[in-house]
Amino acid sequence: MTYTSSTVTVPDVAAVPRHVAIIMDGNGRWATERRLPRVAGHTRGVDAVRATVESCALRGVEFVTLFAFSSENWRRPTEEVSFLMRLFVSALEREIGKLHANGIRLRVVGDTSMFNDRIRALIQRAETKTARNTRLTLTIAANYGGRWDIMQATKTLIAQSLETGVPARVDDESFAQHLAMAYAPEPDLFIRTGGEQRISNFLLWQLAYTEFYFTDTYWPDFDAAALDRAIASYGGRERRFGRTSAQVESQSQKADTLSC
Ligand code: FPP
Repeated sequence: MTYTSSTVTVPDVAAVPRHVAIIMDGNGRWATERRLPRVAGHTRGVDAVRATVESCALRGVEFVTLFAFSSENWRRPTEEVSFLMRLFVSALEREIGKLHANGIRLRVVGDTSMFNDRIRALIQRAETKTARNTRLTLTIAANYGGRWDIMQATKTLIAQSLETGVPARVDDESFAQHLAMAYAPEPDLFIRTGGEQRISNFLLWQLAYTEFYFTDTYWPDFDAAALDRAIASYGGRERRFGRTSAQVESQSQKADTLSC
């Protein structure tokens, strides 16, 4: 698909979000409250990932994007970072067959140059194996940062200009073609679990007109019912994209008349 920008064209809106982006927060606190080591929360977090992807596929969500490891997560204790890397590898190895069998395409976005050869090869294999699947695209953001993404897109444009001697076109949509997730529509719904209310350098560009949903539920407890609450909240929003309520109303009446 070609990327269309919500600041250029008003996107079609449906009751179920087409693209859900999630910051899976609260794993550490979930574990600490149970007197378990923090990493036990990450292990349970993988179960919540599986359940959420399944539920999203059943509800007709086409894109799910999960923030698994941010460019700032390297600041955590070394043992926790190593554990997260091992968990990522084992989850990928274990789940890829199931994802493929269920028609799910896997993509990984972020600065993967920081990962070792084994992880990079595994990502490559998983992406290639699932490349033709169309039911749902699951994107894992790993060593991802919204600022990194905007900078890498800018560097690509500058490199192209220098190579061709022609200044690159810089506008909303041509710029966004170089972002890591140019293959996906902008998220309709952003969910953050764990009670914090911030973006934490996630998809800075793409969240321009996304609806935000924050819940106190810790990520390991985020289940199908919690997802349904988020989707119901989304379904009750009026997405104006800069327009007035009256304009939105008359647009949807026009669409209803056309579909009769
Ligand atoms: C935030 O919780 C969570 C993370 C930084 C890691 C998320 C990773 C997973 C859910 C598992 C791996 C995922 C995949 C896709 C295989 P936190 O540790 O900041 O929790 P806290 O705020 O309670 O300390």
